[in-house]
Amino acid sequence: MKSANPNLAQAAVSLDPDDWEQFRALGHRMLDDMVDYLQTVRDRPVWESPPDTARRALQAGLPRESSSIEDVYELFRKNILPYPTGNIHPRFWGWVMGTGTPIGMLSDLLASAMNCHVAGYDQAATLVERQVTGWLAEMLDFPSAASGLLVSGGTVANLIGVATARNQLTGTNVRQVGVNPSDTGKLTIYGSSATHGWAERSCDLLGLGSDGFRKVPVDRHHRIQIDELVRILREDRRRGYRPLCIVGNAGTVAIGATDDLNALADLAAAESLWFHVDGAFGALAKLSPKYRHLVDGLERADSLAFDLHKWGYLQYETGAILIRDAKRHEEAFSFAPSYLENFTGGISVDPTEFASRGIQLSRAFRALRVWMNVSVYGANKLGAAIERNIEDSQYLSSQIDAHPGLELLAPAAMNVVCFRVAPAGRTEAELDALNMRVLVRIQESGIAVPSSARIDGRFAIRVAHTNHRTIRADFDVLLASVLEIATQILHAETAG
Ligand SMILES: Cc1ncc(COP(=O)(O)O)c(C=O)c1O
Repeated sequence: MKSANPNLAQAAVSLDPDDWEQFRALGHRMLDDMVDYLQTVRDRPVWESPPDTARRALQAGLPRESSSIEDVYELFRKNILPYPTGNIHPRFWGWVMGTGTPIGMLSDLLASAMNCHVAGYDQAATLVERQVTGWLAEMLDFPSAASGLLVSGGTVANLIGVATARNQLTGTNVRQVGVNPSDTGKLTIYGSSATHGWAERSCDLLGLGSDGFRKVPVDRHHRIQIDELVRILREDRRRGYRPLCIVGNAGTVAIGATDDLNALADLAAAESLWFHVDGAFGALAKLSPKYRHLVDGLERADSLAFDLHKWGYLQYETGAILIRDAKRHEEAFSFAPSYLENFTGGISVDPTEFASRGIQLSRAFRALRVWMNVSVYGANKLGAAIERNIEDSQYLSSQIDAHPGLELLAPAAMNVVCFRVAPAGRTEAELDALNMRVLVRIQESGIAVPSSARIDGRFAIRVAHTNHRTIRADFDVLLASVLEIATQILHAETAG
């Protein structure tokens, strides 16, 4: 007799549920729970360190036998769900972490059910990634013929940009023969001292050595000093180095500063160098008609790296790279092994289309979350949210400026505000120590999570605002709490 459920015959080894209806009911409950979780996020502490019970539970050894999904879900609810980094909360502004969107959550469920392998192939997921990389190019004023790829994040996106420069401009077939400074001279990349750490890591990985990243000093607004860049470039050429690429920043990690990208584009063209822009979060300012001028010139880059899991508000991991010249991109990463042969029919039509633009062969369907998010919200609404973040950062900055006990440590260039509590009569070392304690205490209070930066050596409490849930009153809460905690610390000091 034929079984109604073909899996029943092999129930002992099937990884599908024995009872789909029970599975469906639990799935519905999980979805309800997660919608509640998002809806009530404001009612919980921003962050809480996992207690010993959770730590112990998460050190349990390998389960050899099966458990029910209901029991495992309970473990998740008890030991995992309550202890996130906190970046979905309206008062989280640490590092540059995105908030995620409810649409992103749902699209991850759909993408996970489909579980497409997006190296290429003739499938809808490939069409979606092509479509969304086209949309991203349009958002950022890149030509429609540019080549795009979604990656895990800004670090990998930037690596791909500068790897394309290396593979194109060394003058030897570096992909085959490797980097040999005695043939080419020392290969070098130029960017400001405010550039994120991806640059040195990339130089290290690309065989240039981390000191192949030549750090150029910044001005008082943290923008690269172009005359210094020119001087260092000339000096390096004289020494026999082989400069490959200039890196511009659209939003530096510490304070959100943007280099003079037009001047860098001109210089790169005059010096026959690749122009790469790290727009990890800043690039998305292009979506705001009012503030797009802040990142003027990024559209002239040969390669542009940015993240949608920062100011695109999307879930991790969603980074992207755009490369103006699609042919150069493909030459830098083409990949066509015999086991991935290209046919004119069947599924293997261009099976490595995206694998030939980066370093991953197996790739997830992250394009779906971009597609759903942009389709549902529309580029204008995303731009309006970015505009609000910038104006709320200006509000925070003006509140700090107006308070005698607080001090701005850098101009709020875009959406990053660096400040400190500054009671009179304290040395720099005392102010650093006080502000460090305030930062840790405010994080531990669960009220808000800013992070830190060193601005010209001084310890700053840093707010990087890419949070679509924040309202201005949240910044009032932040400042009131910072001042209250500082007062408590200072009182305890005098009392002690
Ligand atoms: C300016 C900048 N570039 C690059 C990165 C690295 O991006 P990711 O963490 O997505 O790898 C960051 C991360 O915060 C950043 O702020």
